[in-house]
Amino acid sequence: MRRKTKLIHGGISEDPATGAVSFPIYQVSTYKQEGVGGHKGFEYSRTGNPTRNALEELIKDLEGGEAGFAFGSGMAAMTAVMMLFNSGDHVILTDDVYGGSFRVMTKVLNRLGIDSTFVDTTELENIKNEIRPNTKAIHLETPTNPLLKITDIQAVAKLAKEQNLLTIVDNTFSTPYWQNPIELGADIVLHSATKYLGGHSDVVAGLAVVNSKELAEDLHFIQNSTGGILGPQDSWLLIRGMRTLGIRLEEMETNTAAIVAFLQGHSAVKKVFYPGLETHPNHELAKQQTRGFGGMVSFDVGSAENADRLLSKVKYFTLAESLGAVESLISVPARMTHASIPAERRAELGITDGLVRISVGLEDIEDLLEDLTQALE
Ligand SMILES: Cc1ncc(COP(=O)(O)O)c(C=O)c1O
Repeated sequence: MRRKTKLIHGGISEDPATGAVSFPIYQVSTYKQEGVGGHKGFEYSRTGNPTRNALEELIKDLEGGEAGFAFGSGMAAMTAVMMLFNSGDHVILTDDVYGGSFRVMTKVLNRLGIDSTFVDTTELENIKNEIRPNTKAIHLETPTNPLLKITDIQAVAKLAKEQNLLTIVDNTFSTPYWQNPIELGADIVLHSATKYLGGHSDVVAGLAVVNSKELAEDLHFIQNSTGGILGPQDSWLLIRGMRTLGIRLEEMETNTAAIVAFLQGHSAVKKVFYPGLETHPNHELAKQQTRGFGGMVSFDVGSAENADRLLSKVKYFTLAESLGAVESLISVPARMTHASIPAERRAELGITDGLVRISVGLEDIEDLLEDLTQALE
């Protein structure tokens, strides 16, 4: 099955009981047992629900893993994965991870004894230098948010295997349509499915895919024990969104290329961050590792005041957190998505006050370019 076909026919694409081609929403908490333990595969919806199961099978197929798991948000998925570790364990993460990922590691999981170190994972040496006897995993975000740095998944996974560590990849920005971390050697893939997978700004959800039976058993145990599951309505919405992922991403790629070219040539723009640019330091790696550069672009307009002026003038770029939806969104990471990262750390990472991030949507490109033209005047 090719990729767009898999989005439509992968997982459990129809209801075996009725033939319904849209998998039904099983709005149910419990299931009749013929005798004690005599059920048809479902006993209680925290443990398993048919609609959630259809979604979990779909993401498993798309990522090429052993099992998929759906959670109430991307952060719930990440937290559940971190629960695979014990007090005293240590995890190495990409330095400019999503602010919420930084926050959960440094303000919540640290209190439970899970220690973390953040490094620029684009240099393998930086990771090697941080591996300790108690290190258990390397958690990558690639491309990163908002600076769109690219880490070599295959090289990191090889190092991790040699050192008996797990490789976890947050694949939110690329999605399985553009990038397949498990094929590159990763053990666990994470998604904020709220973004491209859902694609319509109408659902908050998280997904995890693991590559072994052992990890599948462990993560199911955690999902069932801690209970951060996705409900059947939201599972259905996600399945529906994911059916059109391919066609949405292809169109966004075209729109994004035009916007990047426009921003590159604009005098009010100091710097453009996009892995599709030949001048991007990881461009060659991005070409090998992904099939598309994605719909996220960051650019520096020099100051918070310039950024505010731009935000107040755009018409078709909605000022909002989040990304990956049909409508174009605009944000200032330093004061929005990454506000939970301390100011001095943001400065170290290069997340300046004038950095603007856009998530390119599916509007007509002429409208988007005209809008940016008038807003940057
Ligand atoms: C790369 C990345 N990972 C994880 C998350 C967290 O996902 P959620 O907001 O669905 O909890 C986000 C949210 O913006 C994100 O951008």
